[in-house]
Amino acid sequence: MDKFVIKGGNLLKGVVEISGSKNAALPILSSTLLTNEKCVIKGVPYLRDVETLCLILKELGVKIERKSNGDIETQVIDERNSIARYELVKTMRASVCVLGPLISKRKYAKVSLPGGCVIGVRPIDLHEKGLRLLGAQIDYEHGYLIANTKGLVGCEMYLGGTFGSTVTGTANVLMAACLAKGRTVIENAACEPEVQDLVIFLTKMGAKIKGIGTHRLEIEGVKSLKCATHKIIPDRIEAGTFIAAGALSGKGITIKNCRLDHLSAVIDNYNQMGVTIEKTSATTCRVKHARVLKPLDITTLSYPGFPTDMQAQTMVLLTLADGISIVTERIYPDRFTHVAELNRMGARIRKEGSTAVIEGRSQLWGAPVMASDLRASAALVLAGLVASGTTEVQRVYHIDRGYEKIEEKLNSLGADINRLSDKVAMPIRLSASPTTTKESMMRHTTRHLPRQ
Ligand code: EPZ
Repeated sequence: MDKFVIKGGNLLKGVVEISGSKNAALPILSSTLLTNEKCVIKGVPYLRDVETLCLILKELGVKIERKSNGDIETQVIDERNSIARYELVKTMRASVCVLGPLISKRKYAKVSLPGGCVIGVRPIDLHEKGLRLLGAQIDYEHGYLIANTKGLVGCEMYLGGTFGSTVTGTANVLMAACLAKGRTVIENAACEPEVQDLVIFLTKMGAKIKGIGTHRLEIEGVKSLKCATHKIIPDRIEAGTFIAAGALSGKGITIKNCRLDHLSAVIDNYNQMGVTIEKTSATTCRVKHARVLKPLDITTLSYPGFPTDMQAQTMVLLTLADGISIVTERIYPDRFTHVAELNRMGARIRKEGSTAVIEGRSQLWGAPVMASDLRASAALVLAGLVASGTTEVQRVYHIDRGYEKIEEKLNSLGADINRLSDKVAMPIRLSASPTTTKESMMRHTTRHLPRQ
């Protein structure tokens, strides 16, 4: 397994470009199952999770091709197999997004239950609730969810759960409703930018959807959907991660291709911490090193609240803040696997249930640490950037799932990160040239798909 060796202390400066959003690309690629016509999806990042989903779609009879310009072209050519296998689904939970399109278009789906992950149990009861209300018969057998229907029929439903709305649950029910008979209303729908991007793509395919960006979606079912071309929105969590990097050690980094309107809660909280984020255009900002970081109490919420996917990265800043901070996780109460690792680097964080108390004023030192999930891994990389000495982040396949060329992008800003591959004794330093990185990224991400 690969690891990162990070020499801390370098100040970052320069320009970084944000890639397309993983969490928009996955449901949008899944939604191409809803049509037999060719679709073209632009701006899809080179990520392990995207590779995994493409393997699943291929097995579901989709001809899927990454063109030399990076576009992904899809076309359903065979609808006989509607089974999403455990061996692939277990490595990427968002594979569950094929469920809604399959049951709606093919009237049958057999999808492996995704199982939990380190950030929580991650049930799919709301996905099931919504599909049952649309008329799907749902059974469970040997770790698979099996869905059958004679034809879905629209209805009004409430899709909120204990922890609020569900992003991929909304995506699944929304995609299924597009081909259902009649009108569907989803109350307490998720309105994350990634769901909004899916609504835009489905509308381009001919779906009739009202309420984009709100917690109430209204869908008028249609007989069929057609081809469409779409460019994925920039990844707001990658952008937020680089804002955190700039706040930690940036002499002034410029972040391009980021939708600042998708980051209001992050920008507001970071401003309160004393981070300067200067908006230089609708999709560009400059972030400077925050000489003194102020402590802050943060609670993660559904969009437009503070995103849970930025919690771990932000905690790194809070370990350096000039006082005590409190982080409360309202989305994934157990999403604190990064705490123990940060404490090994000299942070002083105490976890109490779904809350973490961060003492601040820490001096982080380099240490060997273990990545455990996507965003916790990003937090450990950020900590390594500012720690004194060398940090080794092991199991970086977690980070390859959701960050395109992260070490390449950080090194181009002046960081000192080497990716040590288990095949090469010497460190391999990815060059700045995008193509080499993309090839090596493809090599890294397609070599094997270990369990997450
Ligand atoms: C999406 O996961 C994202 N993944 C996650 O990003 C993100 O953290 C999460 O939304 C919350 O914003 C993708 O979009 C691929 P949820 P999802 O359903 O859809 C509970 C990353 O790092 N819930 O919105 O799986 C659930 O346990 C990943 O990029 C139910 O109880 O999340 C959680 O507490 C991590 N029943 C809350 O709702 C259900 O049926 C929100 O989950 C579904 C969810």
